[in-house]
Amino acid sequence: MERQRKGFNRLAAIYDYLLLIPPGKGFIKSQEGLIPLLPVKKSCLIIGGGTGTFLKSLLLAGKVKRIVYLDISEHMLDQASAKIKDLNHECLVEFRRGSFDKITEDEKFDLIVTNFFLDLFSLTELKIWIRFIGDKLSDEGLFYFTDLQIVRGKTFRTFMNNMYIKVLYFFFRNTTAISGKTLIDLRTEILQSGFTVVHEKGYMKELFYSAIFKKRS
Ligand SMILES: C[S@@+](CC[C@H](N)C(=O)[O-])C[C@H]1O[C@@H](n2cnc3c(N)ncnc32)[C@H](O)[C@@H]1O
Repeated sequence: MERQRKGFNRLAAIYDYLLLIPPGKGFIKSQEGLIPLLPVKKSCLIIGGGTGTFLKSLLLAGKVKRIVYLDISEHMLDQASAKIKDLNHECLVEFRRGSFDKITEDEKFDLIVTNFFLDLFSLTELKIWIRFIGDKLSDEGLFYFTDLQIVRGKTFRTFMNNMYIKVLYFFFRNTTAISGKTLIDLRTEILQSGFTVVHEKGYMKELFYSAIFKKRS
């Protein structure tokens, strides 16, 4: 975990600039696309929120009253905190540096967000994270998820998309020592772990995918 912390600390200063390289804007567009469909919720946990672009949009949309913003990188947290410093909003935001151990046993949330976070992990770790999200969601809680997705087919476009995903893994494995080696079918893993889709949408020829899930009753 220490190697990942240091890696993401190094990336924090340039992270927003990297998103200017095409198709980087898709990272922002896809994670903000479903915000208008969110109902107002009391408490929210954002895991691996990074430099705070999504946080800013969620605050401006006025969809939550209290947010716990969790990230292992203190430099990412600094960026996120600076991004919302002058923002006019009525939400209480608490920044926590660390991983799931920073969430206490009795804490539950009405909304949990992971954007471009679950793709960092191996299958074993992914399953742990999805179980954690299920445990930490209140009964009526929603799971807001955005990530890359595997593109099937034999067109030039799918070839380019899959090449892009390979390049991203090469880059992140070398800069941040993430444990994920290739992109897992995250949607399927989430559905198989007891969630059902409330809303979903693909972006940029399905390279990006965002969904709001709830726990199956
Ligand atoms: C690829 S970035 C995504 C950032 C942001 N969600 C976005 O979409 O731009 C992954 C983020 O997860 C954080 N992170 C990595 N491992 C983590 C862990 N175990 N617990 C909490 N945060 C973690 C990193 O510091 C980084 O900010």
